[in-house]
Amino acid sequence: MFKISTIDKFNFKSLDYNNDSIMTNNKFECDEHKKFWEIAKGDVLITGLGLGFCHANLINNPNVTSVTIIEKYQEVIDLTWDDCVKDERFKLIHADADNWEIEGYWDCIWIDHWVSTMSEYTKEDFVKVMTEKYSPHCDWLGFWLQETKRQQY
Ligand SMILES: C[S@@+](CC[C@H](N)C(=O)[O-])C[C@H]1O[C@@H](n2cnc3c(N)ncnc32)[C@H](O)[C@@H]1O
Repeated sequence: MFKISTIDKFNFKSLDYNNDSIMTNNKFECDEHKKFWEIAKGDVLITGLGLGFCHANLINNPNVTSVTIIEKYQEVIDLTWDDCVKDERFKLIHADADNWEIEGYWDCIWIDHWVSTMSEYTKEDFVKVMTEKYSPHCDWLGFWLQETKRQQY
């Protein structure tokens, strides 16, 4: 079961799955997206909706033409999508990014759906499988991977 908790003391949010935090919008996690935000342009694909914090950065980028987001869990979509910062360039697809039959070509793809407690893959296998699947469909492919279960707050 997913829920969003607000960590008032530090003024950030956490997306929790079965009471475990799977991501937050704290500064450290934002910093780990910088390489993507700096390069994002044209048609962009993101796997994993999460809290949708990527959007706030992309929406102010005039070089971004479209943003397609793939999210597996309807519960996450129900919790997040309506409140996400977005405009007519943003589109959500409800699908499993591991198995989604990808068609088309993107300028940038940001793989952001690996969650250690939820994925059937080890991190190493995940990178290999997703690189094989997604890299023929883009000019630039990047990954966000939670390195360890960090003490976040
Ligand atoms: C780290 S969060 C993504 C953060 C997000 N990019 C943001 O801007 O807030 C990981 C997300 O991937 C989703 N997810 C997990 N497995 C998935 C899969 N196989 N396909 C698509 N989404 C998946 C989770 O439900 C969660 O919403």
